[in-house]
Amino acid sequence: MERAAVVAGLGGWVPPTVVTNDQLAEVLDTTDEWIRSRTGIRERRWVSPGQSTGDLAVEAARRALSSAGEEAVDAVVLATSSPDRLCPATAPEVAARLGLGAAPAFDVAAVCTGFVYALATGAGMIALGAADSVLVVGADAFSTILAPDDRSTRVIFGDGGGAVVLRAGSPSEPGALTGLNLGSDGTLSDLIEVPAGGSRQRSTGLPAKTEDTYFTMQGQAVYAQAVRRMAESVRETAARTGWSLDEIDSFVLHQANARILTAVARRLSLPPERFLSNIGTRGNTVAASIPLALADTVASGELRPGHKVVLAGFGGGLTWGSVALVWPHLAVHPTELSEFAATSAGPAGSTV
Ligand code: UT7
Repeated sequence: MERAAVVAGLGGWVPPTVVTNDQLAEVLDTTDEWIRSRTGIRERRWVSPGQSTGDLAVEAARRALSSAGEEAVDAVVLATSSPDRLCPATAPEVAARLGLGAAPAFDVAAVCTGFVYALATGAGMIALGAADSVLVVGADAFSTILAPDDRSTRVIFGDGGGAVVLRAGSPSEPGALTGLNLGSDGTLSDLIEVPAGGSRQRSTGLPAKTEDTYFTMQGQAVYAQAVRRMAESVRETAARTGWSLDEIDSFVLHQANARILTAVARRLSLPPERFLSNIGTRGNTVAASIPLALADTVASGELRPGHKVVLAGFGGGLTWGSVALVWPHLAVHPTELSEFAATSAGPAGSTV
């Protein structure tokens, strides 16, 4: 019988420190009105001093494992572009902290598409019989790589983690991933980058300029690509799955900008209400964005068992991708409050 990767558990976590638009307007040349009207973001969470991507990943993973009723998995795939260290990958330490023994664990770097790429990787391991269960995590602490004075990036990004447990199952059961579509365009790699810190800059032998150690994004060009590529990818995934666009109940896209979600809906001639969103309180959480949006919209009751849903991501690289599933029955812990809360939180404090 054909093996499918089935979503069997889901969890999300955000750090406790809330950063409002008004707090940012105190230290940057921006306003709450500009941020809300241009992005839909009202507030976001940022890590406290000492807290890292690995901490976000561990918290989200604990919730996903609990949601799946599992204590162990056969492999861990962590999507992140803000790893705890440049080397080694963050995933092995996350796996160790979760008590997962010698399970293979590695990072996938596809920026905001990372979670979809990681899902594809985990699903591929299951399809090959290399694993019967895979923990797929998306986590980023982008607040740590933004230039303190860059209003164009600092207002957009939030920190968080999200995770799913995939298990081997049948293609016909709820939760089975289908219709995967992935793509990239490296000719536009400069649109989203951290210029320094990699081998290209280090091999010059010259010290990195401070401004090159931070994340940069050419917002307008990225915006246009995000709308085009996510719309195309959703169409491709729907076609591969054998669904008409109209019969899809919910779209959970990368939460980069509320206007991008509306523009994709318009491009696909679909009602914008079907494009679920948590961007108002989360901001753009990079690789965590899709699983966090899943956790938040399951908690709010917007995403329900039996919904035909398409997940789609877009990000640096450029990269994009999407995948379809019928949403399964899952017990999901609330993202913010639960018995798990703040077990690895660092000291509370202002991080603005
Ligand atoms: O997650 C990976 C993928 N990322 C994305 O998909 C992000 C895509 N891009 C976007 O969401 C939007 O381009 C942004 C939200 C980043 C920017 O919005 P925009 O409507 O494209 O603004 P803009 O870059 O065209 O800037 C318009 C004006 C500029 O001023 P001038 O040149 O018109 O005087 C900016 O300097 O807004 C200014 N501006 C700001 N003003 C107040 C830029 N950032 C801010 C700010 N507050 N925070």
